[in-house]
Amino acid sequence: MTKPNLLSGMQPSAASLHLGNYLGALTQWVAMQDQFNAFYVIVDLHAITVPQDPKLLLENTRRTAAQYLAAGLDPDKSSLFVQSHVPAHAQLAWVLNCITGFGEASRMTQFKDKSQKGGADNSSVGLFTYPILQAADILLYQPTAVPVGEDQRQHLELTRDLAMRFNSRYGETFTIPKAEILKETAKIYDLQVPTAKMSKSAHDPKGLINLMDEPAQITKKIKSAVTDTDGDIRFDRENKPGISNLLGIYSALTGEPVAKIEAGLSGSGYGTLKAEVADAVVAALEPIRTRANELLEDPAELDRLLAKGAASANQTAEKTLKAVYANLGLVTPV
Ligand code: AMP
Ligand code: TRP
Repeated sequence: MTKPNLLSGMQPSAASLHLGNYLGALTQWVAMQDQFNAFYVIVDLHAITVPQDPKLLLENTRRTAAQYLAAGLDPDKSSLFVQSHVPAHAQLAWVLNCITGFGEASRMTQFKDKSQKGGADNSSVGLFTYPILQAADILLYQPTAVPVGEDQRQHLELTRDLAMRFNSRYGETFTIPKAEILKETAKIYDLQVPTAKMSKSAHDPKGLINLMDEPAQITKKIKSAVTDTDGDIRFDRENKPGISNLLGIYSALTGEPVAKIEAGLSGSGYGTLKAEVADAVVAALEPIRTRANELLEDPAELDRLLAKGAASANQTAEKTLKAVYANLGLVTPV
């Protein structure tokens, strides 16, 4: 039996993924590789919709790939590839640009947020059409499932609208994909501001645990995590956000329910909780960091794995693009 297709993507916009990316997205992507024929794309063409330092972009693209592989994305099961290695992404994006309304694109809230920050003259046309390139990323692979965070819901709706529009104007061409919104329970908060989501744009680096952090750094950050003064190890997101975050991290890493962890630690101090959480985080991340660094020491091997992913992605993407061009009435080259 053939497995259904799945596609998801991430921008190569930082040197390290963080614990939130790992627990909120990556572990779920790894788990989905068995039920799906999965395509995971590092979207470098999306990254350049805002200014990038070329050296850093190059480095961060390889670093992102290395961390995904190190965390368990298996190149024998899934296709892990770089968007710019598959020309059909830019080609289909053009076609989709031509069936997207100007007003429709103007309603994308992520564009409104991002462009407001920089001012109209600092926003590129590429940033405006970002969601349309994302629709192309998805539709080329005929996926049924697209696992993303809640913030991507609107882009997935646009993708579905464009697919249905194309199908109804030009004949059945695209599978209509569905967003699989990743578990909110896996939401990880900043260690210093435990009411804010852990994010790479954290104000204080102590609030952020990176996959590529050294064990001693991780332990230090967890030991200085903000807690409260009542001394009770109890999950209460509203009144005890710091302790709840530590319990949430511990539970996500060990698979143990929060209630069981609370019971096991009742009567202990926050120091004990922090030490146990630090050990669990280090135990989970240390093999990933080590393996990612090994992969980065051999960029030729990493590039070979990415080329293998691109070859498989190109096959699927080319097939869809051919059908799109033919259905549009473009002459097939001989
Ligand atoms: P981003 O770094 O915002 O592009 O996020 C990439 C993916 O990681 C998103 O789709 C989210 O599902 C996940 N993610 C990001 N931050 C967190 C967090 N603090 N907790 C849980 N998941 C997160
Ligand atoms: N816009 C997504 C994000 O910021 C990244 C992305 C690009 C993506 N293309 C995609 C996600 C296709 C899922 C499918 O997280």
